[in-house]
Amino acid sequence: MPDIAQSPPVLAPPTETRAKPRFDETILKYFTIASVFWAIAGMAVGVLIAFQMAFPQLNVEPYLTFGRLRPLHTSAVIFAFGGNILMATSYHVVQRTCRARLYSDFLSWFTFWGYQAFILMAGLGYVFGVTQGKEYAEPEWYADLWLTIVWVAYLVNFMGTLARRQEKHIYVANWFYLAFIVTVAILHLVNNVTVPFEIGSVHSYSAWAGVQSALIQWWYGHNAVGFFLTAGFLGIMYYYIPKQANRPVYSYRLSIIHFWALIFIYIWAGPHHLLYTSLPDWAQTLGMTFSIILWMPSWGGMINGMMTLSGAWHKLRDDPVLQFMIIALSFYGMATFEGPLMSIRAVNSLSHYTDWTIGHVHAGALGWVAFISFGAIYYLVPHLWKKAGMYSTKLISVHLWIGTIGIVLYITSMWVAGIMQGLMWRAYDEMGFLTYSFVETVQAMHPYYIIRAVGGVLFLLGVLIMTFNIWKTIKTPDAAENEALPASPAPLPEHA
Ligand code: HEM
Ligand code: HEM
Repeated sequence: MPDIAQSPPVLAPPTETRAKPRFDETILKYFTIASVFWAIAGMAVGVLIAFQMAFPQLNVEPYLTFGRLRPLHTSAVIFAFGGNILMATSYHVVQRTCRARLYSDFLSWFTFWGYQAFILMAGLGYVFGVTQGKEYAEPEWYADLWLTIVWVAYLVNFMGTLARRQEKHIYVANWFYLAFIVTVAILHLVNNVTVPFEIGSVHSYSAWAGVQSALIQWWYGHNAVGFFLTAGFLGIMYYYIPKQANRPVYSYRLSIIHFWALIFIYIWAGPHHLLYTSLPDWAQTLGMTFSIILWMPSWGGMINGMMTLSGAWHKLRDDPVLQFMIIALSFYGMATFEGPLMSIRAVNSLSHYTDWTIGHVHAGALGWVAFISFGAIYYLVPHLWKKAGMYSTKLISVHLWIGTIGIVLYITSMWVAGIMQGLMWRAYDEMGFLTYSFVETVQAMHPYYIIRAVGGVLFLLGVLIMTFNIWKTIKTPDAAENEALPASPAPLPEHA
């Protein structure tokens, strides 16, 4: 028997005692707060334009009309609220899972202030009528150029952190973030090739024209959904659900299949936005086919996220943060079932141009994107400000319920209104005349627009409650004073 006292000293310290690098958490705080700020701004504009559709008198010429405020809403919620939370979480996840501080402090701050400057440049442009008129790509050439510089800085900072990692393995959440950063860069560059009208002009001509322009725009638009609103937020799912549930991800193998299948298939589905147009028929069929196939990887990912709770379902009963995340996944499943359905030509002939599309968008946007973001924010805030938990768990629950009711009001009213609208447009009498004049279809929408606006008010109210809760959490001097929420769960087995 060897003498234990004589054993050689252990050479490597066990994982838990390995020195942690000094993570940059200040930048994460800035991005998180910015995200909450833009959520309020973007959704307040959403509520305003929802009321404008119900009560057109609310349009104020020339700056505060629906036409100018709509892109302000879409950009503020997608790029400002969504973009800031993606930057906050990607910078958090990459540091934690790589056990490395962000590559460059300068680049971190540059991406923060540079990105906020881009948002202001874009937003002011819309209100003053400076826009390319391409949905989700409205900013003019000068703002586009500036975003390109900021985005390259973001890519370099993210990749530089991956390169200096102390973990051999690159955790799958980072793959999704990287796909988001790289693909958005390519989409942005190709869709925004423009030439200014003349030297000094803020307006520009696009390099693309006719059907090519439409195809490139919807290759861009659809992949903005696929890579900005989906891949990036799946990065959030793959890190924060396992953390909050304190369970490893259900199947790592499935996550890899999910990743490759999703990025390969998404990129071809854009033409489903151009069914029944002058786009060649084969391209429309291609878009439809890939959209239907897309259902599979989408649900594979959803199942992977949900099953992460297997063996720990009881946690769902009293942890509202986890509830946010799992409801988000349910809406993700719903939107990615509905999308393939809407891409079938026969269905699209009814749904296109109607509010059914708007219902689909917000099932994804409110249910998936916003809810998974709220989950991540509730995880991050106590973690970053070093508190035992959020100020009030009850308020998180109130937010959850008020938000869910808001979504249900929003999307059910739009489904009913949209299908009704489509059916009214295509109704003929026995003589072959249209049964309804256009204005009758507009009048029929009125009650549904009011219900949608009320849903929006509730959703926004939920965000204000979250903001109050965050404020109180940050202001709480002593962690012990907080109402007990489970503190940040223990790390994943093999990661930081
Ligand atoms: C309080 C919450 C919200 C309200 C009340 C709201 C309201 C609206 C309204 C009224 C429209 C215009 C619909 C139309 O043109 O007929 C719209 C469009 C849109 N919203 Fe929202 N919204 C909200 C939150 C969000 C969020 C969080 C996102 C994304 C993360 C989002 C993404 C979009 C997009 C992408 C469109 C354009 C849809 C399309 O062109 O098909 N919205 N929203
Ligand atoms: C398998 C996944 C999905 C497929 C195949 C799909 C398919 C579709 C289809 C067919 C349309 C209607 C196009 C038209 O008639 O103009 C549409 C619109 C849209 N979808 Fe999806 N969808 C999917 C998931 C999602 C998700 C998860 C989100 C949000 C997070 C989303 C956001 C949008 C937006 C913003 C539009 C409106 C685009 C516009 O016209 O401005 N989709 N989608």
